[in-house]
Amino acid sequence: MLKEKWIAILQNILEKTEKNLDVFVSKYPHVGIKNQYCPEENALWTSSFLIGMAYLAYDVTGDKSYIRHRLEYLESFENRLQKRIGISHDLGFLYTLTAAADYKLTGDERSGRLAGKAADMLAERYNEKGRYIQAWHEIGAGYPDANIIIDTMMNLPLLYGSGNPAYFDMARNHAMTAAHTLVRKDYSTFHGYLVRPETGEMVKGVTYQGYADNSTWARGQAWAVYGYALSYAYTGEQRFLQVARETEKVFRRNLPRDYVPYWDFHFTDENPDIRDTSAAAVYCCGLLELAKYAEPKEAEEYREIVYAVMTSLQEHYTLGKSYNGILAAGMYHRDHGADECVIWGDYFYMEAAVRLLKDWNMFW
Ligand code: GLY
Repeated sequence: MLKEKWIAILQNILEKTEKNLDVFVSKYPHVGIKNQYCPEENALWTSSFLIGMAYLAYDVTGDKSYIRHRLEYLESFENRLQKRIGISHDLGFLYTLTAAADYKLTGDERSGRLAGKAADMLAERYNEKGRYIQAWHEIGAGYPDANIIIDTMMNLPLLYGSGNPAYFDMARNHAMTAAHTLVRKDYSTFHGYLVRPETGEMVKGVTYQGYADNSTWARGQAWAVYGYALSYAYTGEQRFLQVARETEKVFRRNLPRDYVPYWDFHFTDENPDIRDTSAAAVYCCGLLELAKYAEPKEAEEYREIVYAVMTSLQEHYTLGKSYNGILAAGMYHRDHGADECVIWGDYFYMEAAVRLLKDWNMFW
């Protein structure tokens, strides 16, 4: 019964993805306006997610026509790297779901080299003194522009999987640094932390996209759950597994009655605001990764939560056929992409459905 449900969810996603593929070939979806995506230059942190959906579609169906534009994607991403367009810590999101996924599925050496070059550029952002990867701004930016953010946890697999032991250590060191700064003692998370790059001193926790510095931004908490589960998968480091498990408990405790979180845990059913369906989808992927490392009873518990969240997303938050977005009620920033479809929400919703249907050999 459940399997039929995930197949139905995936079918709906595949139909929309198929329609989007010929519209977004060298310009890509980002956040919706009234739940419709427009093509945007390959300059944003989100440019890779529809392409990631094309690779997921190919992976789960075996139908190569889903990646019919792969050479155009690779050219666009090669060009972006060469011209250093919109470069930040998000090289991980950008090149894991494009070049690295392509290499895993097609074995094309050119994609492997491109993923390697992206990893080189991400490694340039590593600060040895503070053992962290700088999120935004030019490398070498001073206080208060030098920062780390919780989102970076999802960019580390590009380094872990690069085959370069020095890059592997950078990723592990960054995850350790984040575990005692961005992750609070109660396992809620700060979005960002300011750093003094010349000494590596970690100054204070802040928010960029959450409600307040000391509140918990829902998507940031989901990045922590999934990101630490992935760091554990690569390193076998127990501390990372513990952080993933404990940040998951915080996320779960803050789920409202319908299992789809408000965009910041400051909000509750008694004091509601906009949801963030993308945080829910990321959380599901994190739970399904964590289930791999849990005892059978706990793994079942994780899966039960995923069923509840995915069912709520499917029943209450999916958009009809006239929209090119899939999940409604995502949240980028309070003043941009609020209560809209967001392309990473669609990607992680699809990834969760794929993970529920098969033993997925992950792109991350
Ligand atoms: N990584 C950016 C965001 O989650 O909005």
